[in-house]
Amino acid sequence: MKRIGILTSGGDCPGLNAALRGVAKAAYEMFDCQIVGIKDGFKGLIYNNTIEMSPQDFSGILTRGGTILGTARTPFKKMRIIGEDNIDKIKCMINTYESLRLDCLVTLGGNGTHKNANLLRENGLNIVALPKTIDNDICGTDVTFGFHSAVDIATEVIDRIHTTADSHDRIMLVELMGHKAGWLTLYAGMAGGADVILIPEIPFDSNQVITALKKRHETKNFSILAVAEGALTIEESILPKKEYKKQRKKLGSLSVSYLLSKKIENELGIETRVTIPGHQQRGGSPSPYDRVLATRFGTYAASLICEDDYGKTVSLIDNKIVATPLEEIAGKLKLVHQNNSIIQSGRSIGISFGD
Ligand code: F6P
Repeated sequence: MKRIGILTSGGDCPGLNAALRGVAKAAYEMFDCQIVGIKDGFKGLIYNNTIEMSPQDFSGILTRGGTILGTARTPFKKMRIIGEDNIDKIKCMINTYESLRLDCLVTLGGNGTHKNANLLRENGLNIVALPKTIDNDICGTDVTFGFHSAVDIATEVIDRIHTTADSHDRIMLVELMGHKAGWLTLYAGMAGGADVILIPEIPFDSNQVITALKKRHETKNFSILAVAEGALTIEESILPKKEYKKQRKKLGSLSVSYLLSKKIENELGIETRVTIPGHQQRGGSPSPYDRVLATRFGTYAASLICEDDYGKTVSLIDNKIVATPLEEIAGKLKLVHQNNSIIQSGRSIGISFGD
């Protein structure tokens, strides 16, 4: 009999429940086991907020958004720090793991989760991790679950913006999630036919953006810009975050899109609007692609547990599900390369990346 602890941590995304279901259903099929749900990510492990699960708990959740276990952000940088509450978080998590008599812990999450999971591995816990995030920025896997659902949502937003931009002869900026990585904006921008795509990995020059829009408006009556929330101007990109945030505040907004839209409207005299779909990109039912991917990841995680093969994260490489050692990927971000073939393809059809 194996006792499996399972948690979801960090920002939620579509596909978490599908992955939980994949792990649980495959584990119940493969070997004798009990599953303990840990509430609200690592917080539940620290404060021993857990629940004994049954097979029925994992039934009927394939299409449900969010996470049945709840989630929370527990930053890695604070994990080793003992705060005013005097709680040694690592010790508490190990105690919970031991008191629940767990054989392993399955962690579903993004970059922060992988760092925390690796920390627990270093402290002797048996870990299996699953890569989720709409940002698609986890190293060692071609794709994370949740990403393609978010791309679908963001693309639909851009599609809808097209018709209204056309009707009103406007320039519309759609600000999409992604502070450090521009994958979501790149994919949705390409899929939605954006004229300008701005991502954090390619600092932009506002004048180049305006030149590109000027050129387009010689023959067209509207334009769409897909802008990652973490996009930076060239000048901002060489400054510390605190510094450029201070400058933005002075200019009247922390949002890159609002500042850029003001500049575009002033320079071109064309009505400009900003749309920020925000957390809608993380809500709702997973896409069919993510349901399949999350199920494949989950069932593979169960097979690792069956083999007592721990300290790994499940990854997709060239459409094969594999296991990657946690220490190889923890703390590393997968960013968009300047010479990514999608960017090259975008450039070849006249999309401006603002550089
Ligand atoms: O990491 C996923 C993500 O959705 C980012 O793209 C976004 O910047 C952030 O989380 C938002 O976090 P919160 O849910 O804490 O507002």
